[in-house]
Amino acid sequence: MCGIMGYIGRGDAVPVIIDGLSKLEYRGYDSAGIAMYQDGNLEIVKKKGRLADLVTALGLTDKTGLAIGHTRWATHGVPSDNNAHPHADCTGRIAVVHNGIIENYATLRKDLILEGHDFLSETDTEVLAHLIEKYYTDSLEEAVRRALSCVHGSFAMAVISKDEPERIIAAKKDSPLIIGLGQGENYVASDIPAILGRTSRVYIMEDNEFVVLTSDSAEITDINGQPIEKEVFEVTWDPVSAEKGGFDHFMLKEIYEQPEAIRKTLAGRIQGGRVDFSALEFDEVFEKAEKIFIVACGTAYHAGLVGRLALEKLARVPVETDIASEFRYRDVLWKPRDLVIVISQSGETADTLAALREAKRHGIKVLAITNVVGSAVAREADRVIYTHAGPEIAVASTKAYITQLVVMYLLALYVADLRHTYEDKKLTGLASELLYMDTMVEQVLKEHNKVKKLAEKYKGVQSTFFLGRGLDYAVAMEGALKLKEISYVHAEAYAAGELKHGPLALIDKGVPVLTLISQDKLVEKSMSNIKEVKARGAVVVAICKENLQEECQECDEQILLPRVNPILAPLVSVVPLQLFAYYMAVLRGADVDKPRNLAKSVTVE
Ligand code: M6R
Repeated sequence: MCGIMGYIGRGDAVPVIIDGLSKLEYRGYDSAGIAMYQDGNLEIVKKKGRLADLVTALGLTDKTGLAIGHTRWATHGVPSDNNAHPHADCTGRIAVVHNGIIENYATLRKDLILEGHDFLSETDTEVLAHLIEKYYTDSLEEAVRRALSCVHGSFAMAVISKDEPERIIAAKKDSPLIIGLGQGENYVASDIPAILGRTSRVYIMEDNEFVVLTSDSAEITDINGQPIEKEVFEVTWDPVSAEKGGFDHFMLKEIYEQPEAIRKTLAGRIQGGRVDFSALEFDEVFEKAEKIFIVACGTAYHAGLVGRLALEKLARVPVETDIASEFRYRDVLWKPRDLVIVISQSGETADTLAALREAKRHGIKVLAITNVVGSAVAREADRVIYTHAGPEIAVASTKAYITQLVVMYLLALYVADLRHTYEDKKLTGLASELLYMDTMVEQVLKEHNKVKKLAEKYKGVQSTFFLGRGLDYAVAMEGALKLKEISYVHAEAYAAGELKHGPLALIDKGVPVLTLISQDKLVEKSMSNIKEVKARGAVVVAICKENLQEECQECDEQILLPRVNPILAPLVSVVPLQLFAYYMAVLRGADVDKPRNLAKSVTVE
């Protein structure tokens, strides 16, 4: 996710900004830039690549007391010098840095172009610069307020003007922003590590708060200009834990970032109860596809398994999900109207890329779902849908998976709408339920202590089983992968009904069996399987929806999930499994973020 750092004061802004941005590098970025006040003008320098490239491009700079800087994680437009922040208006009078997504940027951009504004980048952020220009007469503060009233979406942003070099204007909604309070100098940043060592006194900005920052003051108001009294937060974190936002590991931080990742991935994609992917200009392919192949590896493959069930149920199109390393060597019976969907967090996984190329070699259309803008699969596929999970640093994938699920649901809803395969009312109902899933995940995260206690109880086991039927089976596979990947405990996932065809022989006294029960119609069937394992001495942990707890009474432990539509249940049921894997790994002393033998991006076959 992008990083913001701004400075105003009597010191020298540029080294402070570069240092602050370097402390935000852990957030991930693909380009960096800075706007500084020099001799009555704003000078902007920005570069694709690492901060070191920006420093080289900057060369020696004169001392200045005002600058804003940014590290960009591409969401709209590929990583490039032009798309890097800060963005300026047509006159170069103002410069803006922004984190988040302006959902209505396309309409705003069209209108601004008609009004004569020239755009230099493909970003959503640039509309902010031009909107502020449009409303700017003599007060930057007023212009920013008016501009923000036109935008929908999320933002943490900071703006400076060459005509008002004594202030930085900043505001926040749904993306993090903090204000650092110094002596004769103040800072604005997207996270605490950026200002650590300079001050320990910060304001944590809340949604819809607005700040006018000078060297000696930070006036905070709501978006309408009403003053807000805020308490100063004293930071006591050490620099390393600060990078993790106070969490012990990136994995835990990323698990907790899932509600926000869901919001960002949904942003602007559901309008009036309907999913809109028409801008992809792929409707004909979606409408006519005879068969869809979903191809991916590891966790992304598990997201594809959920995608298959969702697409088949809603869009009534045959779907096959396959592991990329198998698919690439299969002799697939291609039909010209087939569609291949590749899913990859990194967009660089060698096997997934090879499968994509294989499909293209046969003239088959390919849609990529990836988290990394401009990655190899994004470049080579015919079309791409981005997940907006932000950079995922832990090797174990969590928030990327949940956003891949979100995209699969959006796609299933969209294709169903195009093909008229699902009742209209049900489609819009499901779309609006999807919009609430962030809060459902928040609810599940509150169960973390219960999950931790389970891990404390079972931390010494040698082997575990994960069971489920239908969508629950797909999630069970992801739960088992998480556990073995980071805690090194043997974990196997089985379709609950398949157990008695062999694996039941492995069930012995005290073996934990984590069973997912979120599919209302299958609960009785799952209970029969639970009886089978209980009769062999297993301890059964049910991860079950609260409306099904009565049926699950025979289980030894229960982790309750909110009452959600069964189709959407994977979005909530995976969360306790991620937490279980996390706590098991911590309690067993494993290196959670960097598990042995594994790499984040697998770029070899
Ligand atoms: O970047 P990708 O999504 O293509 O990566 C695929 C797998 O390597 C990845 O999901 C892996 O299984 C994760 N480490 C699991 O947590």
